Amino acid sequence: MTATSMIEAAGRALADSRRLLVLSGAGLSAESGIPTFREAQTGLWAKFSPQDLATPEAFAANPERVWAWYRWRRSLIARGGVNPGHRAIAALERHLDVVIATQNVDGLQSAAGSHDVSELHGNIWIDRCSACDAEHRQPVAEADDDAELPYCDACGARMRPGVVWFGEMLPVNALERAQAELERCDCVLVVGTSNQVYPAAALVEMAVAGPATVIEVNPQATSVSAAVDAHIAETASKALPALVDRLDGLGAAR
Ligand code: OAD
Repeated sequence: MTATSMIEAAGRALADSRRLLVLSGAGLSAESGIPTFREAQTGLWAKFSPQDLATPEAFAANPERVWAWYRWRRSLIARGGVNPGHRAIAALERHLDVVIATQNVDGLQSAAGSHDVSELHGNIWIDRCSACDAEHRQPVAEADDDAELPYCDACGARMRPGVVWFGEMLPVNALERAQAELERCDCVLVVGTSNQVYPAAALVEMAVAGPATVIEVNPQATSVSAAVDAHIAETASKALPALVDRLDGLGAAR
């Protein structure tokens, strides 16, 4: 089936649904100019080592290097901003109840206007104390590379980026919210994730095994593409606005 006929089928499935869970990953923000992780050549993990940058041990050994990398990523996000894919997901709230569980740490889905976003891997705009967990939300702006590394106002320990690193637990509330919604929703939209990082990937697998209609938007096939109800092999910024147009056309606004 072509992407157009998949969008047609997915639009009908959404029009028949009342509650939607969106599970999103780095591909959704790729068209904001923010690199994904696992794509050959362009993915962050093709250029950088997660062991050196995204573990508690890496931060303990070299906080300057870790902060420099996260500040660079903050700058990319601040420059990129929201794209039509994020906006289309926000627009879906015109038609049905939407809960989003994202692996993205960029904060762009909330910036696009979505009201219910669970950030499974944390948020890059939050500085969190490495000792007492006190948090400070930072303004979305290009980073000042020369700025001093931050320390906690409350206890004096080093602040770290408020993201989940390899070997760390996901925020319990975010994961539980996504799991609970998986039980209630009648449709799941999986966008821009390679489905390789657990436990987020398990949410996708549970969706595929469960009764909800599952729509996947990803230009590449993933491990679940053959099992979903509709795989739209198109980029998020093309497929999602087209899906919203289709839904508008079906007159499904509430
Ligand atoms: P990946 O980089 O693993 O996968 C990105 C997916 O997006 C791939 O399947 C691409 O085919 C797809 N993609 C690329 N461009 C797209 C576009 N324009 N529209 C739609 N899809 C597109 O990213 P994630 O699955 O999000 O975790 O990675 C999950 C986690 O791995 C990240 O949260 C991060 C990383 O290690 C931590 O750092 C803990």
